[in-house]
Amino acid sequence: MIPSRLASLRPVACALSVVATLLATFTNGLAVQAAEATPATIKVQTDRPGAEVSPLMWGVFFEDINYNGDGGLYPERVKNRSFEFTEPLMGWQQIAKAGAVGTLSVLDREPLNANNPHYLRLAVEKAGDGFGVSNEGFFGMGVEKGARFTFSVEARVLQGSPATLAVDLVSPSGQRLAGETLRISGGEWTRYAKTLRASATEPKARLSVYLVGAGAVDLDMVSLFPENTWKHRANGLRPDLVQLLADLEPGFMRFPGGCIVEGRDLSKRYQWKTTIGPLAERKLIINRWNDEFKHRPAPDYFQSFGLGFFEYFQLCEDIGAEPLPILNCGMACQFNTGELVPLDQLDPFIQDALDLIEFANGPASSPWGARRAAMGHPQPFGMKLLGIGNEQWGPQYLERYTAFAKALKARHPEIRLISSAGPSPADERFDFLWPKLRELKADIVDEHCYDRPAWFLDNAFRYDSYPRTGPKVFMGEYAAQSDKTVSVLNRNNLECALAEAAYLTGLERNADVVTMSSYAPLMAHEEGWQWRPNLIWFDNLRAYGTPSYYVQQLFSRNRGDVVLPVQAGNAPQAANGQPRFYASATCDQKTEEVILKIVNATEQALEAEIDLAGARKVKPRAQATVLTSAQLTDENSLAQPRKVSPVSARLKVSGATFRHTFPARSLTVLRVATNE
Ligand code: AHR
Repeated sequence: MIPSRLASLRPVACALSVVATLLATFTNGLAVQAAEATPATIKVQTDRPGAEVSPLMWGVFFEDINYNGDGGLYPERVKNRSFEFTEPLMGWQQIAKAGAVGTLSVLDREPLNANNPHYLRLAVEKAGDGFGVSNEGFFGMGVEKGARFTFSVEARVLQGSPATLAVDLVSPSGQRLAGETLRISGGEWTRYAKTLRASATEPKARLSVYLVGAGAVDLDMVSLFPENTWKHRANGLRPDLVQLLADLEPGFMRFPGGCIVEGRDLSKRYQWKTTIGPLAERKLIINRWNDEFKHRPAPDYFQSFGLGFFEYFQLCEDIGAEPLPILNCGMACQFNTGELVPLDQLDPFIQDALDLIEFANGPASSPWGARRAAMGHPQPFGMKLLGIGNEQWGPQYLERYTAFAKALKARHPEIRLISSAGPSPADERFDFLWPKLRELKADIVDEHCYDRPAWFLDNAFRYDSYPRTGPKVFMGEYAAQSDKTVSVLNRNNLECALAEAAYLTGLERNADVVTMSSYAPLMAHEEGWQWRPNLIWFDNLRAYGTPSYYVQQLFSRNRGDVVLPVQAGNAPQAANGQPRFYASATCDQKTEEVILKIVNATEQALEAEIDLAGARKVKPRAQATVLTSAQLTDENSLAQPRKVSPVSARLKVSGATFRHTFPARSLTVLRVATNE
């Protein structure tokens, strides 16, 4: 049986009714009739623990969109360091000061390697006051006072005579923030490096490279990389962004996408094997978000793969998230060309999946395990999940999924496979795929939904009527859209966050069906986004979590181990009869705490009588953590990063039944210890 259409769903675990006197309040997406006087009720069966809440329940979805890979998490400051963009000097400008005569040319004779065929020749006839080249970075280069950077370059000189490079970090007004020189000698490609220390904080610095005196040098892989990376790793990640991810305590991390997996056509698909090994040998491709939206063009958006599969696995390990790679299944993006690999030519794609399992999990003595070990990780990464295709649909997907599943299950039954239910949570593509995937005994089915807040509020009971056996659900991409999907007007406001929270109570109550979930997209550069809303926003120096971020964090950090049945009553409904007061409950078996998550999506504070039925003893001191704000339209920003963020307070409870008032427009997490 396929999940029934949403309109017909009725609340089951959370039966709600309305009291006699009703107040009508209508706000965007949160239309309610609020109960006056009589308190709402929340009854938790603390002695009837249900399904386990999967440790994978609350995860993150990473895709290099909105300049959140190159330009974001991957903190290389130089854009187009390898001169491999389609326009090879994109990001670079010539500098010719007074009296200087020289040329810049991009050549491909005797390159660094075949994957990196282009390099820059900097030839100076007359040095004058300086001839060279300057890189603009990603919306400028963020540097903090005192921060140290490694400038490095692959270089060679022509005709044997040594040359000197002068490297400066400069502010937009021309202030020199750091400077060094490097002596280049020899006609063979050699890596040279020097440390630069910034004398001031500047979000939009530039890097200038001059040749001192007349002569010629060839340059490639020109890099300015911060020393301050996550765990101080060389080629490491931007620490404030990783910290925000780590603070979510995600159960898993899905990577590298998203549509980026599929490519506009198959030649532009993500191929994990080209993203590992020495940086200079990783083969750059255009980012599919470069020209996807005419209204948000990003002509300088490419994938350098400095952040590649090894770095993703390492990041997962660092933040305690199970790695969930998604692989192309022989289909390009069906919103673009939909190019297909013929079924009889699918073997190399399946082999990529088998090799990936070996790369992640094989011993260091195996061919792909050895590649991992050579990159500094002899121990396996312990991958348990693998996605077959991203947001695919139709019989073509089923055929390809079936071929992958057959080969992978035969060799690696220990790997749980994620299959696609298409781009919508309720349409003919979804209705076609689900029963077929059920027949195929798929492990986990990936559902996607981008819709208005009202959809999330109205569908909080969606999974109550799903079959309790068969494939599990991965709510793999979702986000409430304050305007509409792909609109530039979408805002990360409280209204969207609360609608998502309401929906998540439904995921949690149905943890026997829903095993994983992740908001999408994850991060965006304030100056470089293609898609909004996003969970995290950043610029070159700062970052913040949105209200939706804090919803994710509250659910993740208060997961609990098992679901407790909960019933809410006497609570407000919207004009369409759907409730606007939501509850889920779990139990932390170690601390013996009942964890209640309550969403009051109305504009009135709501008093509720809470009954922890079956609790033997209740400690008088509980904790309430509340996410709310004065307006549904409130947001966080770089200037006010925590305007909408959770506040915790101690709470006195009088016993197994007590009253609590849930603020208007709020998500509340109550933790009550039930045993002394
Ligand atoms: O999250 C943005 C995009 O939405 C993803 O790349 C794709 O899978 C979905 O269509």
